[in-house]
Amino acid sequence: MNGNGKINEIELHDYIHSLKEVDAWESAMLLYNSALKQMQTKVEILSDEFKHVQKYNPIEYVKARIKRPESIVSKLKRYGFSDSIENMIRHVNDIAGLRIICSFTSDIYRLSEMIGSQDDITVLSVKDYIETPKASGYRSYHMIVSVPVFLSDKVVDTKVEVQIRTIAMDFWASLEHKIQYKFNGKVPDQISVDLWECSDIVSMLDQKMLSLNEAVNRAQAKLSEEEEIKERQERIKLKAELKAEKEANKE
Ligand code: GTP
Ligand code: MG
Repeated sequence: MNGNGKINEIELHDYIHSLKEVDAWESAMLLYNSALKQMQTKVEILSDEFKHVQKYNPIEYVKARIKRPESIVSKLKRYGFSDSIENMIRHVNDIAGLRIICSFTSDIYRLSEMIGSQDDITVLSVKDYIETPKASGYRSYHMIVSVPVFLSDKVVDTKVEVQIRTIAMDFWASLEHKIQYKFNGKVPDQISVDLWECSDIVSMLDQKMLSLNEAVNRAQAKLSEEEEIKERQERIKLKAELKAEKEANKE
């Protein structure tokens, strides 16, 4: 606590630095887990609100995972760093990872804005692989955010990687991942070309599905407007008929 009785807000690497080596790993993992839970809850709340207010849910499903220690070590090696906890916290941004699968591309941008504009979330970086796909054909929207995790005597800002993509983009990414794994990263040229073509088809499919959905919404709005007009006309007609009947009875 500081002099004002407020708890101090610190960054994860400063917090871990103050701990003994034996406690550092478990403390770091506890923080990543807590940050991930918090992000998961935030997304769940957005999804519930959407369902309640808009009668529409842009989120198909959400997956959360903590990176395995061996993946952390191999990433550090790939980046040319030794495998210390300090290096892990500084250089591996996806230890806590949240993947959000949406129906339409427009939902991705709407959702990323909602996440980024929450007061307690700091957006550290954004990679828009939808606007600019990777050379592999990979499409997705990535954000590295930091969220404050409240401990008993301090608040620790902790990083979470958020990936947002459509169902079609996710289908492509999971197939490509399996192919990479099968060929140990050395995918034959023709398969890479075919994957790139599939990625283009994914993009076309997403655009087509989005315009289809927009057309459905417009048609639905028109239909309910027409129904409303019809109902109003029927009410007027009925009123006139009742009035005429009343007058006929008077005579
Ligand atoms: P990594 O070191 O791979 O994490 O890349 P990076 O730190 O430059 O971040 P980037 O935003 O490019 O990628 C982060 C994550 O996105 C990866 O861990 C994968 O989950 C996913 N990703 C990135 N590129 C590809 C790709 O070509 N294919 C698939 N299937 N997934 C990818
Ligand atoms: Mg990764």
